[in-house]
Amino acid sequence: MQNSNALKQAAGEAAIDRYVRDGMCIGLGTGTTAYYAIRRVGELVAAGAAITAVPSSLATEALCRKAAIPITGLLDRPIAVAIDGADEVSPDFALTKGGGGALFREKCVALAAEQFIVIVDESKLVPHLGAFATPVEVVPFALDWVVREISAAFPEVTIRRRGGETPFVTDNGNALLDCGFGAIDDPAELEAELRAIHGVVDAGLFNNLTDTVLVAQPGGVRELVRTSTTGARN
Ligand code: A5P
Repeated sequence: MQNSNALKQAAGEAAIDRYVRDGMCIGLGTGTTAYYAIRRVGELVAAGAAITAVPSSLATEALCRKAAIPITGLLDRPIAVAIDGADEVSPDFALTKGGGGALFREKCVALAAEQFIVIVDESKLVPHLGAFATPVEVVPFALDWVVREISAAFPEVTIRRRGGETPFVTDNGNALLDCGFGAIDDPAELEAELRAIHGVVDAGLFNNLTDTVLVAQPGGVRELVRTSTTGARN
């Protein structure tokens, strides 16, 4: 049985090997699985490949710089493919993201890319989203208001902290809530409801964005491709 890091590595490297070619501009995600994809891109660049990346967080930007991967802005060049991890993947390819707090920029990169590839180990495949608390990015001034609005219907709302009392601050200078909604029947409807609350910047629900999911499991990396029954790409 491979350990979880080996599976993350297999998924991250498979995504680069299968989908990234010399000359491409690509979106690079954030997190412990995306780390292995970034590392693989660094190896290709070191070997002479002309790959440019749009990082989805300051952490990923730092990793790109360390690996000498050239970086560029969101719409400077067409992004052929964006590759990122996820916290949960439902059968219809909806995602929970933002465990690392990078949901807003990750969604920007996924929206801008021609193809969005999600890399996970098999533990991330779930029958429906919601066991993982949904991250919600909030303008700090509106935090109490947003907490009141969400907790009126769903009491499990926690302000994310970076250890102790210090509130977590996103790359965009915002606060984060982690919200327990229970099993989410309709992630697109919930995303729309959350985004309609004044002060909410984004929710870590990614709907109709994923084209392909690479699932690492003992024995290999399985590829799940979007079909007409797994939702349309925006
Ligand atoms: C970052 O904010 C997240 O959206 C990550 O992409 C997600 O949490 C998956 O991270 P891991 O690959 O570290 O589990």
